[in-house]
Amino acid sequence: MTKLLTIQGGKPLQGSVRVRGAKNLVPKAMVASLLGSSPSQLRNVPEIKDVEIVTNLLTIHGVKVEADVDTGDLTLDPSQMRTAEHSEIDAHAGDSRIPILFCGPLMHRNGEAFIPDLGGCRIGDRPIDYHLEVLRTFGAVVDKQATGIHITAPKGLKGAKLELPYPSVGTTEQVLLTAVLADGITELKNAAVEPEIHDLIAILQQMGAIITVNTDRTIRIEGVERLGGYKHRAIPDRIESASWASAALVTRGDIYVQGAAQRDLSAFLNTYRKIGGEFEVDDGGIRFWHAGGQLEPLVLETDVHPGFMTDWQQPMVVALTQAHGVSIVHETVYENRFGFTEPLRRMGASIQLHRECLGSNPCRFGQRNFLHSAVISGPAELQGADIDVPDLRGGFSHLIAALAASGTSRVTGIEIIDRGYEHFMDKLHALGADVELTER
Ligand code: EPZ
Repeated sequence: MTKLLTIQGGKPLQGSVRVRGAKNLVPKAMVASLLGSSPSQLRNVPEIKDVEIVTNLLTIHGVKVEADVDTGDLTLDPSQMRTAEHSEIDAHAGDSRIPILFCGPLMHRNGEAFIPDLGGCRIGDRPIDYHLEVLRTFGAVVDKQATGIHITAPKGLKGAKLELPYPSVGTTEQVLLTAVLADGITELKNAAVEPEIHDLIAILQQMGAIITVNTDRTIRIEGVERLGGYKHRAIPDRIESASWASAALVTRGDIYVQGAAQRDLSAFLNTYRKIGGEFEVDDGGIRFWHAGGQLEPLVLETDVHPGFMTDWQQPMVVALTQAHGVSIVHETVYENRFGFTEPLRRMGASIQLHRECLGSNPCRFGQRNFLHSAVISGPAELQGADIDVPDLRGGFSHLIAALAASGTSRVTGIEIIDRGYEHFMDKLHALGADVELTER
């Protein structure tokens, strides 16, 4: 049975939605609990597929996970931790990339780790070369097998001097989760400093780690003998917040995002204002609405934090199809992150993709045959279409395009959206969307 979402477009989305803990922090915080010698508590946890996957992976490793989905509280007790069978890990990894972050904690606790072939959204080939390189530098032995990678630490894990070729979020997390219990000091240059990284550092500090973040993006970790548990409220999901904000713009609506935090959305809010959106911040969240005039085109470049985040790009591209004039988007984080524009063109959007770097940000993809710049002409009248969702963020963008389009859209593959948007069907209904979910 597959789910079919039928959308009647043309209605402004109006109302309020609640955003809880960040999809790109919560699973990492759950993995961090493995490092502790006592239980941890994580609050503000969303009910999303990625949390379910990590819960299952922790459970097969003997961690006791108790969830209260109403309050969003999770307790994690690693005291009975054990080694899991490779087949069990493979069966539970789903299409998540999170298993790669189990390496450090499992090597510290069990002396070994097994990583099945990784999944994740198809937005580039998503290599793990940086991860394996830093693990080897800590003293790990990486054995590539047919079904995945077996990693051991025969001589233990020692602090290392590291420099990343690119400020990779996942690799920075890999280093943090390995260095905190390694023997000696680790220095990581060119680290990622996203809000989710700072939140993971706060969690590790609560557990007993000693971590310093310098202004030049160098992170210094002093290895300690043991770590305790943590009690932490996860930061809100700045990608989901920006997604609903973009939905308000695209459908000419008005959405209050309860839980949205201005401090993590600064670059997005500047862009939102420049395109012609309005927003109002209060202690409980942020109200986003279409100001009623025409939307303005702009030149947009994605970058690592504190730049405009690559995951904010997809819903903003949909908004730019409605702007009066020509906009340019230069995607500098992933080489293949405009695949989602194909259905938008079928709906009537005017979007051309180019291999050139159409922007001033330094970029690894120039002249390497990657279509990583987009030229968008608007406003374009969007018509409903049949859509199969390609990935998480592109998929959400298809939903808001269909909600703005005139006529009917039939969307399949929406299960992937459950990975990062908690109860999104309930939220669409709460916002007055004319949507129907059927099984076929
Ligand atoms: C995290 O992915 C997020 N996912 C992504 O969100 C986010 O877009 C990305 O960081 C950038 O902010 C999670 O946190 C689960 P990276 P991650 O390592 O860690 C290259 C979403 O929809 N690279 O910072 O995998 C890589 O190819 C997702 O929520 C290597 O070359 O991203 C990319 O070009 C999408 N080798 C760049 O670095 C490596 O070993 C950034 O990747 C690792 C990365």
